[in-house]
Amino acid sequence: MSYLPIKQLLKAATGVDSPVGSTATVKGWVRTKRESKNAVFIALNDGSTIQNIQAVAEAGQLPEVTLKLITTGSCLSITGQIVESQGSGQAIEIKIAEVVIYGTADPEKYPLQPKRHSLEFLREIAHLRPRTNTFSAILRIRHALAFAIHKYFNDHGFFYLNTPIITASDAEGAGEMFRVTTLDAIKPPLTEDGKVDYSQDFFGRETNLTVSGQLEGELGAMALGKIYTFGPTFRAENSNTTRHLAEFWMIEPEMAFYELEDNMNLAEDFVKTVIRYAIQHCADDLAFLDNRLKEEDKTKKKEEQSELGLLEKLQFVINNEFVRLTYTEAIEILISSKPAKKGQFQFEVKWGIDLQSEHERYLVEKHFKKPVILTNYPRAIKAFYMKQDHEPATSPRGEVFGPTVRAMDVLFPGIGEIIGGSQREEDLDKLVARMQEVGIEPEAIWWYLDTRRFGTAPHAGFGLGFERLVLFVTGMGNIRDVIPFPRAPKTAEF
Ligand code: 4AD
Ligand code: MG
Repeated sequence: MSYLPIKQLLKAATGVDSPVGSTATVKGWVRTKRESKNAVFIALNDGSTIQNIQAVAEAGQLPEVTLKLITTGSCLSITGQIVESQGSGQAIEIKIAEVVIYGTADPEKYPLQPKRHSLEFLREIAHLRPRTNTFSAILRIRHALAFAIHKYFNDHGFFYLNTPIITASDAEGAGEMFRVTTLDAIKPPLTEDGKVDYSQDFFGRETNLTVSGQLEGELGAMALGKIYTFGPTFRAENSNTTRHLAEFWMIEPEMAFYELEDNMNLAEDFVKTVIRYAIQHCADDLAFLDNRLKEEDKTKKKEEQSELGLLEKLQFVINNEFVRLTYTEAIEILISSKPAKKGQFQFEVKWGIDLQSEHERYLVEKHFKKPVILTNYPRAIKAFYMKQDHEPATSPRGEVFGPTVRAMDVLFPGIGEIIGGSQREEDLDKLVARMQEVGIEPEAIWWYLDTRRFGTAPHAGFGLGFERLVLFVTGMGNIRDVIPFPRAPKTAEF
């Protein structure tokens, strides 16, 4: 089995322990095969890095039958001497002494040929797309970000808490849940009044896939101080957009004794730190994606081209402070903006609306040109658990608007909302009153309310959509391209 990952081999080639002169075995998938008069060149990739290793055989060295089976996508084990490369583009190459073909890939049938494939086409072959440069780069970056997230929280004294995936509660109160049941789909047992009798279901009650681990996260924070979750999250909203998935991964830190300001400080430091980690540890992959984006930009109209390259954009985010303002201030800016005056927004701007992506993008991309944290949203458009502000919002002209809550949304260029969070209502009476207003039965989550009954404390937290972060860091345009096997309306192949 002994073989050297290509990443390790190429890295050693630049160090003092150069492998030149030694014999090594590499294993991987053929990206391209090129034949010249004197030699055969095989570019082999094993996924450890975006770089290929070039394997060279002399013309006539390999039997014709073997050579024929070495095609793009086939899998090989190659043993040979590591030598300095004659060609440009790589420092070393491997002189083939022995080839073992593990698996062939019939060029008539193998869908990934060495040419540019559209992202739409690659989505149809999601089982093979990790073998392309673009997707292997994305998946390595995704891994690095996941690792950086665990590292960040570990370094800052947080405990990783696993919250349930099957749940009987709707944490966001939005009713966008996937049901989990073992009842007969055609003839479920019914109650006397004709409803499905969930008391006969597996869990003896109606259960769903979780939309958020927050409620259980709060229980953890009220015992361990600082916790975070990092798990799959499910939303049955019928959003066919480039920013929504039906199954995505969310990171939810929850901290006892944190107020809104602390929550914002943590969110900002956290995203900057994990982005910095990716810049430091994924240089090759980011350079590849940066270049890919530049090439793609060349095919676009001038006004649609990005102002900053991918790496410049990432640097820009980690080197600038996020702008912080209230929802009410943002509404003022939007109302007096050019697009509002010219009637260019599709949705009218007024206090109380849920900001649409066109509004968020105006604030982030046009007005501030920086990531923005919006706070103190209208209570009516946010979840029941958010801490209520004492005073209603007022405009600079003294107009009094409705009540607000200590919410915070972090908005990123090209992405819109990347983080949503808040300080939590720790007062039992206020929380229960709000639940009753929005029609949530307090008894249904009696265990959640117990945190407010016993040793309640100020606390806060937020949720980062992992795929939205990966989308931002990789510069991709569609969230379905930053998760290995996307789940979206009418999409669950693989
Ligand atoms: O704003 P959301 O709905 O907040 C919560 O779920 C809170 N319980 C978080 C908390 O305070 N602990 O979702 C949080 C983030 C969003 O900002 C977005 O990045 C991401 O999750 N998100 C989605 N990502 C992909 N597809 C979807 N359908 C998403 N819905 C939310
Ligand atoms: Mg949100």
